[in-house]
Amino acid sequence: MKKTRRKKKKMKGIVLSGGTATRLFPLTATTSKQLLPVYNKQMIFYPLNTLIKAGIKDILMIVAPEHSGQYLNLLGSIFKKYSINISFEVQSVPRGLADAFIIGENFIGDGSVTMILGDNIFEDDFSVAINSFKTGAHIFAKRVSDPERFAVVKFDLNNQATRIVEKPQQWISDFAIPGIYIYDKRVVVAAKKARPSARGEIEITSLHNYYLKLRELKVSSFHGEWLDAGTFDSLLEAGNIVKNKGLYKKFHPIVEKAIKEFNEQLKILAKKKLN
Ligand code: DAU
Repeated sequence: MKKTRRKKKKMKGIVLSGGTATRLFPLTATTSKQLLPVYNKQMIFYPLNTLIKAGIKDILMIVAPEHSGQYLNLLGSIFKKYSINISFEVQSVPRGLADAFIIGENFIGDGSVTMILGDNIFEDDFSVAINSFKTGAHIFAKRVSDPERFAVVKFDLNNQATRIVEKPQQWISDFAIPGIYIYDKRVVVAAKKARPSARGEIEITSLHNYYLKLRELKVSSFHGEWLDAGTFDSLLEAGNIVKNKGLYKKFHPIVEKAIKEFNEQLKILAKKKLN
C-alpha cells in the first residue's frame, strides 16, 4: 500500500510588541517602545526581519491597545504584495510573555511557532534552527556580563541545561536566554498551566521549564550580536552597534523594499498636503 506523506505545517511567527516599557518612560508616554528608532529605523523592523529572513510568511503582531493604530498604519499593508501576511492581536493587559501563546492559540493552531520579542535585535540568521525544527522547544543562550537582567540557564558538565531561572537574584549562571524561542503546539497548554510569578506575570521561563521537565528542551549558543533595547543605555548601545556594524544595511530584500515603498508613500502624501 502506498504511504501518504503528511505535509509539514509551515512555521508561524509571533512578534510580542506590547507591554508598558516603564524603563523607557517618558519616551514611551507618546509611542510604543518597539516603534522607537534604533539608528535610522523603527526597532520593530529588526525582529520582523529575523522572522522574514527565516522564510516565515505568517506573522502575528501582539500589541498594546493604545498603540494598535500606530502598528496598523506602519505594518498593516506594506508586506502584503510580498505574500507575507501580518495579523494583529491586542493584549489588553501586560500579563507576561507566556500570554502571547494564549492570545495566539487560534493563530498557532496545529503547527509550530517562533516567537521573537519586539525589543530584541539579533545579528545572526536563525533560518537553520527554525526550518529544521520538528518538536519540543528550541531556545538559545548567550554569555553576558549582567545575567541578573535576564532569564538564565545553568548547564551541567555535558552541556545539558539543568535549571532555568528568570532574573536570578543570586548568581547561578552567565548564560542569558535571549528573546527568540521556537515551540511546538504544546506551548499553548504550557502557557495555560503557567501560574503568575511574584511580579504578577506568566513567565516565559515556565514554558522552558515545562519542556525541560519533559526532556524536550534544546538550548543552543550563537555568536553574533544580541541587543535587548529595553533601557536608555541599551537603546543607545543598540543604535551605536547597529550603525557601527552596518546591521541597518543588512535587511532581507523584502523588508528593505517594503520600508522604502512605505517611506515613498509618506513623502507623496506629505507633498499632496502641501499643494
Ligand atoms: O530580552 C530577553 C529577556 O526578555 C529574557 O531573558 C527574559 O526571560 C524575558 O522575561 C524578557 O525579560 P525583560 O525584562 O526584558 O522583558 P520585558 O518586560 O522588557 O518584555 C519583553 C518584551 O515583551 C517587550 O518588547 C515588551 C513585551 N511584553 C512584555 C510583557 C510583560 C508584552 O508585549 N507583553 C507583556 O505582558
